[in-house]
Amino acid sequence: PVLVVDFGAQYAQLIARRVREAGVYSEIVPHSITAAEVSAKNPVGIVLSGGPSSVYEPGSPSLDPAILELGIPVFGICYGFQVMAQALGGAVAQTGGREYGATDMAVKADHALVGGQPTTQTVWMSHGDQVATAPAGFTVVASTDATPVAAFANDERRLYGVQWHPEVKHSECGQDLLENFLHKCAGLPADWNSENVIETQVAAIRAQVGTSRVICGLSGGVDSAVAAAIVHKAVGDQLVCVFVDHGLLRQDERRQVEEDYVKATGIRLVTVDVREQFLNALAGVSDPETKRKIIGREFIRTFEQAERDLMAEAAADGEPIKFLVQGTLYPDVVESGGGSGTANIKSHHNVGGLPDDLQFELVEPLRALFKDEVRAIGRELGLPHEIVGRQPFPGPGLGIRIVGEITQERLDLLREADAIVRHELTAAGLDDQIWQCPVVLLADVRSVGVMGDGRTYGHPIVLRPVSSEDAMTADWTRLPYDLLAKISNRITNEVAGVNRVVLDVTSKPPGTIEWE
Ligand code: XMP
Repeated sequence: PVLVVDFGAQYAQLIARRVREAGVYSEIVPHSITAAEVSAKNPVGIVLSGGPSSVYEPGSPSLDPAILELGIPVFGICYGFQVMAQALGGAVAQTGGREYGATDMAVKADHALVGGQPTTQTVWMSHGDQVATAPAGFTVVASTDATPVAAFANDERRLYGVQWHPEVKHSECGQDLLENFLHKCAGLPADWNSENVIETQVAAIRAQVGTSRVICGLSGGVDSAVAAAIVHKAVGDQLVCVFVDHGLLRQDERRQVEEDYVKATGIRLVTVDVREQFLNALAGVSDPETKRKIIGREFIRTFEQAERDLMAEAAADGEPIKFLVQGTLYPDVVESGGGSGTANIKSHHNVGGLPDDLQFELVEPLRALFKDEVRAIGRELGLPHEIVGRQPFPGPGLGIRIVGEITQERLDLLREADAIVRHELTAAGLDDQIWQCPVVLLADVRSVGVMGDGRTYGHPIVLRPVSSEDAMTADWTRLPYDLLAKISNRITNEVAGVNRVVLDVTSKPPGTIEWE
């Protein structure tokens, strides 16, 4: 792999994704990694990430300098660039020349890093410190007005770095620069792609599972759908999938799973219909956390009952169910400390989570993958577009999008409004720009309106369109006014009981994406 050394502040995941977009497999490691640990991973390249600290401050994150002596090509970005400069005998200083945002950069040397690029270009800067003097033996490749040493290179030692952030889209030649490092400077082929991933995973799953049976819970979302499809490709009908219809699903979701997905994959699916059980359990409850707990508890109960039924059936056949498929993604692994030793930022909040006394071994075919890679693999496997392109949807479903008590009527109403919003966003071609758009029913609020000649007294629907990279932070999406008008018109005309549509214009933080 190419190792992406994490100096903090969430830059590393973005860099790791960009490296993979260049067709090279990458893994994130903590900056505390030693040269020996690096060697053990047999990397073909190293990228040092940016970070929020100053290299000369005591206790700032550092790098084992022996890593730069291993003969592995290294590319430093921002803080990583400064760490390199300092370790190699250059000088880093606070010059007062703080640069933030889009900055004009001038190419100073004819070098493979910037080969084929315009000699002046816009780059994204964010730094207070800078490399005052490049280390001996290094060529200065680029400068800006405030930063004379904005990029350097040493081809003999295959060490390179830039002050700006090539991983962000605002750096106009950023991806090209990263690819120049990977392909030209480090000589790495672009051979990481969805076909290879599927092939490798299929072989690994066959080896892990043998002839045992495997069970998988489908949520209707993209991760579990793709995970199950890979496992099915590997072990066929040894896999059985369970889909719980708890009545908190969106319009058409059950049909898409039961018909379209099953048709595309040939997977054996068992649907458990517990809509009534969930409504009864949730009757009279309006507190968000209580709702979440009830939904989680009922879900686990339902799934475990389905498991017992299937286990009994499998035992009668002589091949026990030993494995459970999970659609865990790489960001979950990194964030729960499994990937890089970083702190636990967020614990999983899938419905209910896994019980402590799990009786299965886990099969996690997506553990090394980012969301966009999972989607690419889903497309490669021929899964329905509605499922592969699906935006994140919380495990507790529409249950946490009704502010107030959950009833059948309210669910039906919200489902209708949600379907209109999804349809219009897709029709406007905005699916790729929006991370997700929760549609929320304020069931406890009523306002006065007028329709025809009559007074109405109905509920408001909230639109919550957000843009985000990872759901940890988000901004509200500036949807076109005409589109908002159309959505509002359709909802108030078509959904009985709703007489007002409002737009949530809060970023996260301070708001969360969901209302409950
Ligand atoms: P918040 O509301 O915390 O949501 O900003 C962040 C992201 O997580 C999703 N979400 C959930 N996903 N189970 C899930 O699987 C849950 O209980 C849950 N709650 C929120 C939310 O849709 C957003 O993408």
